[in-house]
Amino acid sequence: MWVMQPGILYFMLSVIFPIASAIEDKIACSKQDSRIATEIVEEVFIPIFDDTSNTVPTSCPLNPARYIYGDNEKHKLQEEPNRWSCQYCGKAFVTQDFLDNHFDNRHGDTILKPPKGVCLGDYCDILRCEVVDVLYSAPETCNQTQLDILKTKCEKTVKQCVPLYLSGMKKYSFINDMRLAVCAYLTCEKYSEKLLQKTSSVKLIIGLFVGVSCFFGAIIFFLLVCTDILIVEPEDSYQYIKKRNKVKDVKIRIPGEDAELRHRHRTTRYDSDSDR
Ligand SMILES: *[C@@H]1O[C@H](CO)[C@@H](O)[C@H](O)[C@H]1NC(C)=O
Repeated sequence: MWVMQPGILYFMLSVIFPIASAIEDKIACSKQDSRIATEIVEEVFIPIFDDTSNTVPTSCPLNPARYIYGDNEKHKLQEEPNRWSCQYCGKAFVTQDFLDNHFDNRHGDTILKPPKGVCLGDYCDILRCEVVDVLYSAPETCNQTQLDILKTKCEKTVKQCVPLYLSGMKKYSFINDMRLAVCAYLTCEKYSEKLLQKTSSVKLIIGLFVGVSCFFGAIIFFLLVCTDILIVEPEDSYQYIKKRNKVKDVKIRIPGEDAELRHRHRTTRYDSDSDR
C-alpha cells in the first residue's frame, strides 16, 4: 500500500492539475538572458551576414529563428507602458513577465522545442551579456582559464554558423569576421570592453556632427562679434569724428566763409573800384 501511494498521488495530481506535469518538462531558459542575447546577436552578429549578403544557416545556434521563444516574442505587443497583450488570444497583462508566464501556461505548444529550438540565453557567456547589459555588473576579477573555455565554446559555435556554400578563403575570412565580432572579446584585456554597437556609432556620428557644428558656430559667432567690434566700433568713432568735424567745420568754416565772402566782396568792391 505504502509503495503504491506516491504513484496514485501523482496520477491524481496530474488529473487535477494538468500544469503539474507541464512543469516537469518545462524548459529551463532565462527569458531575460535570452532577450539580452538576442539584442547582442542582432547588434554584432547578424550584420556580418547582412553586410556580405549571406543568410544565417539553420545549423547556427545563434540564428534568432531557432530561439525557442521566438514565436512568443513575435506575439507580444506593448500597447502602453503598463499593458502587454498576447497576440494569440488578446489577453493583456501589466508586465512583460506576466505575459511571459501566460505564454508558458496557456500557449506552451507555441515554443520551438529542442534540439531545433535553442535557448539564446545559454549563449550569454560567450556574448558577454553581463558586460553589455546594465542589469548585470561586470566581474571585478578575471579568470583567464575560464575565458579560454568560453573562447573554445565560442569558436565551436561560430564554426556552426558558416554558410555551407562558402569555401576556401571566403569561408576562412567569414569565420575570422565572426571571431573578431564575438570571440575576440573573451580575453582578460578585452572582456570588459563595450560593444561597438550600431547605436553607439550613430551616437558617434551625431556627436561628431554636433561637435563640428558647435566649432563652426563658434567661429561664425566669433567672426560676427569681431567684425562688429572692428567695423561698427570704428564706424562709430569715425562718424563721431565726422560729426565733431562737422560741428567744427560749421563753427570754423562759417566765419572763414564769411571772411572769404567779405574778402570777395571787398575784392569785387576793389575791382569795381578799380574798374571805375
Ligand atoms: C579559474 O577558473 C577555473 C575553471 O573554472 C577554475 O578551475 C580555477 O580555480 C579558477 N581560478 C581562480 C583563481 O579563480
